[in-house]
Amino acid sequence: MGKRGIVIAIDGPAGSGKSTTARRVAGRLEYLYLDTGAMYRAVGLTMIRRGLDPDDESAAAGTAAALEFDFRSEASGQRVLINGEDVTGEIRSADVSDAASRVAVHAAVRRILVARQRELGFEGGIVMEGRDTGTAVFPDAELKIFLVADVAERARRRQRELRNSGVAAELDELMGQIRERDTRDSATQRRSGPWPASDAVSVDTTGLDVAAQVARVVELARERGV
Ligand code: DC
Repeated sequence: MGKRGIVIAIDGPAGSGKSTTARRVAGRLEYLYLDTGAMYRAVGLTMIRRGLDPDDESAAAGTAAALEFDFRSEASGQRVLINGEDVTGEIRSADVSDAASRVAVHAAVRRILVARQRELGFEGGIVMEGRDTGTAVFPDAELKIFLVADVAERARRRQRELRNSGVAAELDELMGQIRERDTRDSATQRRSGPWPASDAVSVDTTGLDVAAQVARVVELARERGV
């Protein structure tokens, strides 16, 4: 265990509730929270702004190496700063999502960001969210969680989210999109190693609300001496 506590790695497919759960677990345990996807997004955003091509590995690695990240926890969530500028909102755009998934393919970029993530988690007391956090980043994390939920449940959650922002969507269509994304994500992942970690604890969130998901992960952390 690090000086500040254990490392908790949280992952799961789109719509499994991993971000909300990870953030709230960190709040309950007074741990740091790190959304590793935000770092890939920050590299993507910077490349777009500079007119660089996210498919260019050496340009992407150069961009990643030069970025200074800062993460601030606030009641409303994590704020992401790059070179002192708050880009929390901007990294969520569709263009940045696309650029992020392109830069995430490059081994040189992953090496740089994984090294940063290890530094941030070195002392423990951290909840790290992201697909390789329990394998490449912290293979020795004391607690690895893989959240799952059936496709219909994830589609209903997505539908609710969209409705809250004033967008109507058919459930069938959303289920199709989720299946497609699952297939692509797991193919990408298998290419870079086993996923999820073989020692991850699977938590099925179908039929669980956020409070129950958080309680379950906190209970697993308590079993590990937190
Ligand atoms: O989770 P997200 O959508 O914010 O992640 C943004 C992109 O970065 C997405 O394409 C997946 C990728 N990513 C990754 O390859 N490894 C991580 N640990 C986190 C995210």
